[in-house]
Amino acid sequence: MNKKKIRVKNSGFVKLQNFNDFPDGLLGIAEAKKNIPIEIKRVYFINKLFNQKSKRGHHAHKKLEQIIFCINGNFKIKLDDGANQQTILMNDPSVGVILGKELWHEMSGFSSDCVILVLANDYFVENDYIRSYDEFLKYVRGHHKK
Ligand code: TYD
Repeated sequence: MNKKKIRVKNSGFVKLQNFNDFPDGLLGIAEAKKNIPIEIKRVYFINKLFNQKSKRGHHAHKKLEQIIFCINGNFKIKLDDGANQQTILMNDPSVGVILGKELWHEMSGFSSDCVILVLANDYFVENDYIRSYDEFLKYVRGHHKK
């Protein structure tokens, strides 16, 4: 994990609580509104990333707030708030990245053993997605003028 500061808006690092049962495993613990700064209404995972050229994400959300973890393997996530861009290497299962609202994100470079875990503060709502980058720029720029 590159521990450089997150400069993009509506993001940041989140640390899971760890319980090290070495050599019998390591627990990572997420408690809503305690070490996890959101309510958790939905949890989803992504695994079986066998295509080296996979690209995921490529969207922003109008309202949804999520926290993304790489609980096995590694991948890269590019964050873009419309003004600043930053790429973070995800390779520490205990450290998540906040995907706040209005944050364009793209994931790539998945190791084949990669397992992604996402905590979300709402149910799946297709209408909350912004799937065009041009539309995203218009949305954030229009918004900040108000
Ligand atoms: P998407 O969020 O676009 O995946 P990623 O950000 O990893 O690229 O989700 C891909 C599709 O999966 C989406 O178009 C619909 C479906 N989906 C659900 O039905 N419910 C969910 O909670 C999620 C996350 C996705």
